[in-house]
Amino acid sequence: MSLRDALFARVYDRAVAPAEEACFQDWRADLLAGLSGTVVEVGAGTGANLSHYPAAVERLVLTEPTPAMLRQLRDHLDRVDPGIDVEVHRASASSLPVGDDEADAVVTTLVLCSVPDQAAVLAEARRVLRPGGRLLFLEHVAAEDRPDRLKWQRRLDRPWSFACAGCHLTRRTEAAIAGAGFALGEVTHESARKASPLVRPTIRGTATAPA
Ligand SMILES: C[S@@+](CC[C@H](N)C(=O)[O-])C[C@H]1O[C@@H](n2cnc3c(N)ncnc32)[C@H](O)[C@@H]1O
Repeated sequence: MSLRDALFARVYDRAVAPAEEACFQDWRADLLAGLSGTVVEVGAGTGANLSHYPAAVERLVLTEPTPAMLRQLRDHLDRVDPGIDVEVHRASASSLPVGDDEADAVVTTLVLCSVPDQAAVLAEARRVLRPGGRLLFLEHVAAEDRPDRLKWQRRLDRPWSFACAGCHLTRRTEAAIAGAGFALGEVTHESARKASPLVRPTIRGTATAPA
């Protein structure tokens, strides 16, 4: 594990706390409320979604590749019992420890900005989802309707990515999800209050794997 990843993991919760309080926690709760069955979360980080999984989830598979994040995720689980059957795996989003068609839902929150290859990750999500299963996402994205902000996102993408463990500012994630063969449902575009202006443009919603 690199020093950069360890430092990022250490400061992450404190850095996002204002935005979590202002909006992300409410958005996570809304997004995850209807889940049931087998759910796979990719890049679970420190476990910000943990308290929002409903009791109807029978099996929750949390995956996270970065050891420092994984440690915090396990500490979080020691403190908070989500009341459901939870497995934790060290795994990349491009190689999930789940069989074909096993999952009812795959959850990505603030992860598709950081994976090296979105198409590979979305293909892997499709592999584990049963036909008609759902991808649930909350992601910060390129400011496609704000040329001034997009210009700054482009200018600062490299230093931002270096400082934030591979996170990118200019991802067109909605198009990538559609391009991976998912049927997009309603997608909410909303500015994340109290987040850095560079990561304020967000999308959230669900997309369905082909039946
Ligand atoms: C900004 S954090 C978000 C954490 C969490 N999902 C949340 O909503 O708070 C990004 C996470 O993506 C993870 N990540 C980065 N590359 C990844 C990959 N290739 N596969 C899975 N997760 C990855 C990081 O380790 C980190 O935990």
